[in-house]
Amino acid sequence: MIVVTGATGNVGAPLVAELAAAGERVTAVSRRPATLPPGVRHVPADLTDAESLQPALDGAEALFVLVAGGGAGIDPDAVLGAAKAAGVRRVVLQSSQGVRTRPGAASHAPLREFEEALRGCGLEWTILRPGGFASNAYAWASSVRERRLVAAPFADVALPVVDPADLAACAAITLRGGHQSQVYELTGPAPISPPEQAAAIGRAIGAEVTFVELTRTEAAAALGAFMPPEVVAGTLDIMGSPTPGERTPSDDVARLLARPPRPFTAWAAVHADAFR
Ligand SMILES: NC(=O)c1ccc[n+]([C@@H]2O[C@H](COP(=O)([O-])OP(=O)(O)OC[C@H]3O[C@@H](n4cnc5c(N)ncnc54)[C@H](OP(=O)(O)O)[C@@H]3O)[C@@H](O)[C@H]2O)c1
Repeated sequence: MIVVTGATGNVGAPLVAELAAAGERVTAVSRRPATLPPGVRHVPADLTDAESLQPALDGAEALFVLVAGGGAGIDPDAVLGAAKAAGVRRVVLQSSQGVRTRPGAASHAPLREFEEALRGCGLEWTILRPGGFASNAYAWASSVRERRLVAAPFADVALPVVDPADLAACAAITLRGGHQSQVYELTGPAPISPPEQAAAIGRAIGAEVTFVELTRTEAAAALGAFMPPEVVAGTLDIMGSPTPGERTPSDDVARLLARPPRPFTAWAAVHADAFR
């Protein structure tokens, strides 16, 4: 049995669906109730309270860990200790590319600490380090629906954003084993700028979408509505001043999936209804 935390999110939902479709026994974990594919067990639990994970973990072979909410209040040793006590053999951690590219950044400290704890806990482990998600474009959904407008900073900075469905596919493969002690950096196929993303969304919905560039201060105010300040700063640093490593597509998705990663245009087409 495979336990998926973050099971209702951008990565967890397609991961649960993919594992279930492949005939795996899946336990989906989130704090709130969820609508899940037939046959998938849901167990409510909170990663900030590792004991609450016990009913989900009993009898599990593998665990997918998604450190939500910037990692606040999550104790890696407690989560991994609960997994070990329950007999889990293998853990796949969704981390972030920023752990490698921004070694001192406060925004990535919780994921860095989780990686360190995982490497030292004695369980089989695999670490997935995605770059920016295509699904971050959901932040523009209401302004596109209401005003056919995308407002974002750093118009001239292109990054190889990754489709969460590709992350889910990579997680599904590694959760089945054979990738012990491996770290994979997961990106999309090619850099794409915010105005290019806006145009792709426009094509997906068959309407012209206007792009307006925000200043960093304006963008920080918008992100600060749902992110802690250090995560806002770290996110804007990557979006505005990416390192060469953050600008360059990785071939790890293609190596894991034996096909190229999906471009942003494909993500926009699949999720067009959110923008109509
Ligand atoms: N967005 C990016 O560009 C990017 C880039 C690199 C790495 N990442 C990493 O990716 C992760 C976010 O993935 P995502 O977009 O798939 O997440 P998401 O869509 O925000 O979903 C979060 C999931 O976790 C659950 N959850 C939240 N807090 C929880 C808690 N305390 N205990 C148990 N479950 C909890 C949520 O359900 P409930 O609310 O019902 O619990 C939901 O299922 C973060 O670790 C982030 O650092 C993101």
